[in-house]
Amino acid sequence: MNGTLPTIVADIAAEMADAPDRGTVADYIPPLACVSPSRFGMAVVEADGTTHVAGDGDMPFSIQSVSKVFGLTLALGMVGDALWKRVGREPSGSAFNSIVQLETEQGIPRNPFINAGAIVVSDLLLGRHEPGETIGEILRFVRGLAGDESIVIDNVVAQAEADTGYRNMALAQYMRAFGNIHHPVERTLGIYFHQCALAMSCRQLALAGRYLMHGGVNPETGRTIVSRQRARRINALMMTCGHYDGSGEFAFRVGLPGKSGVGGGILAVAPGIASIAVWSPGLNARGNSQLGTLALERLVQRTGWSVF
Ligand code: DON
Repeated sequence: MNGTLPTIVADIAAEMADAPDRGTVADYIPPLACVSPSRFGMAVVEADGTTHVAGDGDMPFSIQSVSKVFGLTLALGMVGDALWKRVGREPSGSAFNSIVQLETEQGIPRNPFINAGAIVVSDLLLGRHEPGETIGEILRFVRGLAGDESIVIDNVVAQAEADTGYRNMALAQYMRAFGNIHHPVERTLGIYFHQCALAMSCRQLALAGRYLMHGGVNPETGRTIVSRQRARRINALMMTCGHYDGSGEFAFRVGLPGKSGVGGGILAVAPGIASIAVWSPGLNARGNSQLGTLALERLVQRTGWSVF
């Protein structure tokens, strides 16, 4: 390692504060457009629980698609590998909100991290419950992972997505036509939008990701969240699909399983070593955090944590 970890984290945060090219803040979900591009936060939780937080690492932001990791984990716990009959496990090579592959692939999304795949996961999570119960279950699950009861869902963001999420509505209706959405789309999308609207800080997000660095076990409680094999597989999906059509580039530059969100957050996992969250709202052309990616690239260069 080049320096001690606290110094490396603090140095990276200082470098990001001065970075000139910060990307573009997403504006298709209106409340996200109001977030300042000057923000940058970072949190690293080591295997023994030692935590390093820098910059805006304690400021909550909209985790958006990072939540797809938690939705998938919960759905696998409910329905097991039957989930894979309705969602694939291949990278799409297409934008996160693309519809094109669904036509020739019978309404089965390529993977659970593109919007179409996460909407099917939401449909599974809804099961026979009322939407409010499922939303409560997701919130309880994430609070339990992070060990933090103060985590909330931002209802303004969820409502804004319900009001403007035309593409997601199209995806859901299209998959329903193939029989791969089982509930009225408004109910399924209610789950999806509320899950995406989880507001968390980098510290909370890195804490929530601990089970993925720890063979499926929450190291704080000793509770098994998923089996070791399932944790490994979720990490594999994050590596291959977690950044959509930017997943190859992320693996090339960072070399860790990672999941991005359009709010500018990224959760990354160094298996056995650390759970890491970064946040900077400006995005690159593929909809992934510009400075978040750069910060992770520098972290891995200085620590040698790449899985390769
Ligand atoms: O459905 C959407 O478009 C958003 N709620 C989530 C998309 C997202 O985070 C893509 N990430 N980079």
